[in-house]
Amino acid sequence: MTTAHRLPDADPASETPPTPRETAPSAAREALEACRRLIDPALRDRVAGLPAPLAGVASYHFGWTDAAGRPDGGPTGKALRPALVTGCAEAVGGSARDAVAPAVAVELVHNFSLLHDDILDGDTTRRHRATAWAVFGSPTALLTGDALLALAPRALAEDDSPHLATGIRWLARSTELLVEGERADISFEERDRVTLAECLAMAERKTAELLACSCALGALWGGAGPERIASLRAFGRHLGTAFQLTDDLLGIWGDPAVTGKPARADLACRKKSLPVVAALESGTPAGRRLARRYTPPPDGTGEETPGELALLARLVEEAGGREWAERRAAGELERALAALEAAEPAPEAARRLSALARLACRRDR
Ligand code: FPP
Ligand code: MG
Repeated sequence: MTTAHRLPDADPASETPPTPRETAPSAAREALEACRRLIDPALRDRVAGLPAPLAGVASYHFGWTDAAGRPDGGPTGKALRPALVTGCAEAVGGSARDAVAPAVAVELVHNFSLLHDDILDGDTTRRHRATAWAVFGSPTALLTGDALLALAPRALAEDDSPHLATGIRWLARSTELLVEGERADISFEERDRVTLAECLAMAERKTAELLACSCALGALWGGAGPERIASLRAFGRHLGTAFQLTDDLLGIWGDPAVTGKPARADLACRKKSLPVVAALESGTPAGRRLARRYTPPPDGTGEETPGELALLARLVEEAGGREWAERRAAGELERALAALEAAEPAPEAARRLSALARLACRRDR
């Protein structure tokens, strides 16, 4: 394999990648499931209060009902952001139960963004089934996303917390950055050249910001002071960047049976994801070959032979994009864990948060 010598360090903070395999994922899976059980009643309650057609679409999107509105035990989201909220609340001495309101609020914002993102990207599959817009049409899915977003501050206001005004400010700012990050992502598709720094900054806003906000809200609701909140916010931000890098790697090399999305979907739509941009910016022969092929398919349909997509994936790998993204993800995870430690978390919560962070960076298993 050709190494991409001209790429910047995958992570200046880390020489050797950590070994994410070392922690058993079961602790993280249990934490996610426990959080799902904790927040689902409040989340379902909120969604059920929407006007009927939107409640039905949201319920389908969350995996609670099928397209005809019948109960469905299909796959739901992981509840990573709510688990970060409750985990960070516990890490600073609060209780998960007392942090349900911010946990529900971040899950609502996250799902607003998924509903809109699927429309913007034209993606027809998410969580192993047809996306909401593909079933109910774009206008209805779009408005359902809007409704979830509008529900978020109401969910936050649920428990009359003294932190409400700060929480609303943080969540609103985080949502603004999320939207800005998404806009940057879309604008990259129209540009010939995107730098790695631009792409990393986009990922930080599009993805890491909401994870950072989740951690900060949990810490705030748990009663932490500014320093611990800042450390846990940094934990979420680094974790979020590692999470997006992992997502981008899965978008090229992930197994559809696990990701719930079509194989190499990001290459089919010529997405300028982090491994791709790393490859395009590598200055290697494979990177130049990739650049010549990385234009929209001539017929504009996005339908391509698996052979062409496999070739693009091979070029990204040969140009060093895969290795760079893996190392950078490992470095971001390492920084996340250092920030977590700096918050002096309660040991049991720390164990769960660190397991969650490791799981978020190895989602293909
Ligand atoms: C998957 O999360 C989501 C991401 C990796 C973030 C991607 C960013 C966006 C979709 C932002 C879009 C923004 C707007 C404003 C449209 P996950 O794997 O935790 O999802 P899950 O809930 O299915 O588990
Ligand atoms: Mg997108």
